Amino acid sequence: VILSPQHPLSSGLTSDSRLVRAYRGERSDTTPVWFMRQAGRSLPEYRDLRVGTRMLDACLDPAMASEITLQPVRRHKVDAGIFFSDIVVPLKLVGVDVEIQPGRGPVFSKGYADAAAVAELTAIDPAHLDETSGPITEAVQRTIAELNTTAETGGSRDASDSVGRSSTHGGATPLIGFAGAPFTLAAYLTEGGPSKDHLAARTLMHADPGAWRALMEWTAELTGRFLRTQVLAGASAAQLFDSWAGALSLADYEAHVAPASARALSFVHDLEYETTLREPQDGADASGAAISRAVPVVHFGVGTGELLAAMGGIGVDTVGVDYRVPLDVASARVGAGVPLQGNLDPALLAAPWPVLEAAVREVLRRGAVAPAHVFNLGHGVPPETDPTVLTRVVELVHEAGAA
Ligand code: CP3
Repeated sequence: VILSPQHPLSSGLTSDSRLVRAYRGERSDTTPVWFMRQAGRSLPEYRDLRVGTRMLDACLDPAMASEITLQPVRRHKVDAGIFFSDIVVPLKLVGVDVEIQPGRGPVFSKGYADAAAVAELTAIDPAHLDETSGPITEAVQRTIAELNTTAETGGSRDASDSVGRSSTHGGATPLIGFAGAPFTLAAYLTEGGPSKDHLAARTLMHADPGAWRALMEWTAELTGRFLRTQVLAGASAAQLFDSWAGALSLADYEAHVAPASARALSFVHDLEYETTLREPQDGADASGAAISRAVPVVHFGVGTGELLAAMGGIGVDTVGVDYRVPLDVASARVGAGVPLQGNLDPALLAAPWPVLEAAVREVLRRGAVAPAHVFNLGHGVPPETDPTVLTRVVELVHEAGAA
């Protein structure tokens, strides 16, 4: 499936951005940077906007979701927006009873931990999402409309409300779409809520492999369609969050989880954009020749040091690394040709600036071994983070990451 000519990748607005180039393995004028959970409680403007609105209601309000997505792009001048939503939104959209409790996370009215409960879920056709995901499409469209407009009008690079600048080519800031990986969603579904060790999921995969497979296939299609919706609506990259995969052994990950994650990604792998080569390559005059490229995909999990190679092996462009494994070590594990994203310990954001600055420079130094590096945290921004520190980190990465 070829993305529409108006898609920011097809139109060229984001296809040469620092972020998209890095996900393709190319370095540009400097290292791109964004932060997981950049949209959210660290920002006073977010807290103001959210007063009186429940989390999932905010996700399904296109104007609010779009505004929240844009807030950190305006404020920090990061190289990407990450769509404001949640990994459980597709479940909500097909009628699963779920809410997000502040300070706790997603909570279901029951746990889906045996074959009978799983059968209740799989009785729902995941394709139903395509009829109920209108608010997602609209929120993405509103978001990229603003990101694109600022780029097209140009000259606003230095305006304080600028959200569109990013690349050296006057392009627009790309939007990253995301979805939860099947295992991470199954970890919440089987337990009925957040858990530490994800015991219910790990038990079900061995106690009833048939029910487990059915749950994973269903979840893969649902979350894959959620990701596809965002890309079709205008997202320029896609990140699959398998946040809790680190709870698994390598053998269990490969046998019981990786195939479902690959299936989820199959819903975006067939999406391509047509672009024209800017420069002749290999001496041949390829200028102006149209080529098709896949939408870049990133795969991230927490505590996944043992799984990095397997996670990179399911067909992704870039591997996201948490703060436990230095990027040069991660590069040796996933393979020298693979771009990396990460991995400043979020705890350092609360350290004195000289300590934080040294840590940022160290992440950049180690990330230099990969073909390309997207600076990020090793997990999400803590809610109590001083947002001015994040802005300062962006400035430092852009200055110190310049080749
Ligand atoms: O900037 C961003 O990263 C934007 C959007 C985003 C949210 N959730 C918003 C959110 C993303 C990418 C997610 C994904 C998500 N949600 C993951 C994968 C990423 C990760 O952190 O590992 C997971 C595991 C969830 C499930 C979830 N939702 C949790 C654990 C929580 C935190 C509960 C809490 O209050 O501490 C949520 C709620 C949530 N998702 C919030 C936000 C901004 C907080 C809700 C609030 O503001 O009250």
